[in-house]
Amino acid sequence: MNPLELVGASPEPPFEIVFAGTPVPAYPGQSIAAALQGAGIRAWRTTRVRARPRGLFCGIGVCFDCVVVVNGSATLRACLTEARPGDEVEPA
Ligand code: FES
Repeated sequence: MNPLELVGASPEPPFEIVFAGTPVPAYPGQSIAAALQGAGIRAWRTTRVRARPRGLFCGIGVCFDCVVVVNGSATLRACLTEARPGDEVEPA
């Protein structure tokens, strides 16, 4: 049983965002981080010093591990940024 079935949700149809050139499905109201996680993408950037993988950590906007570039706007937190149809998301 997937999470949607578990809670009996019937969301609007999904749309696509693009992450590093790859289409990723997203549901209306879903954060970019949730869409990436749902697509199996667990890390979407690396640290500057040791190139360690980073993605969703706190999930509430505190740690800044999830930063991405969205439509050219840098350092947005993926966990707090709602996915919009056609968003172009790149690693920060
Ligand atoms: S996961 Fe911590 S700020 Fe987004």
